[in-house]
Amino acid sequence: MTGEFSASTASTSSTASLFDHRVVPLASVADPAHVDAIGDGLVTGGLPVVEVALRGEHGLAAVQRLAERGDLLVGAGTVLTVDQARHSLDAGASFIVTPGLDADVVRFVQDAGVPIVPGVLTPTEVQAAIGLGLSRLKLFPAGVFGGLRLLSAYADVYRDVRFMPSGGIRQDNLAEHLAHPAVFAASGSWITALAAQGADAVSAAARVAVSVATDR
Ligand code: 3PG
Repeated sequence: MTGEFSASTASTSSTASLFDHRVVPLASVADPAHVDAIGDGLVTGGLPVVEVALRGEHGLAAVQRLAERGDLLVGAGTVLTVDQARHSLDAGASFIVTPGLDADVVRFVQDAGVPIVPGVLTPTEVQAAIGLGLSRLKLFPAGVFGGLRLLSAYADVYRDVRFMPSGGIRQDNLAEHLAHPAVFAASGSWITALAAQGADAVSAAARVAVSVATDR
């Protein structure tokens, strides 16, 4: 069922979508000096997409700086409120990711015509998300709550839903997550966490991730 989603592409045209990508790097920006290394590394590594977490004081500015480049798809993550969603879209975010399911945030982003992937963990949350018209959901924190086993349990029940597991995904378990038929993409911080080492380190990790995704 993952055939409808292609491996990550280098395209960042106006039609580029989050759903073109099977790996979604998540960036928590601790130091604004790392932002350009994240952007440069992801672009040269062939993975031109990033979810910038609104954690700490640098998140929104990083969304804006990366979105202004125009060569990668930039979204905002850890969006907890409608105000944060609004500010993220104003800063140039092309998609929104939330750690949990908040109907007000979902409806606001849907009304703006922007993709949203909210976090879910329980069957009740999956069904609430389906009720909001969503079929692509973030499974968070996947690694803490069974990961692949949980995905298999949901795949049997929610046959039209695809998940983006996040939390505990690394290079060494990326392949098994992407191979799961209920998974449309995997997200995590292991690539951008190398930003302090420079763009080349980010680029090298991105290339490995793209290679893994291309093989799945
Ligand atoms: C998330 O916000 O999706 C997770 O915190 C990412 O988790 P990771 O740091 O384990 O990749």
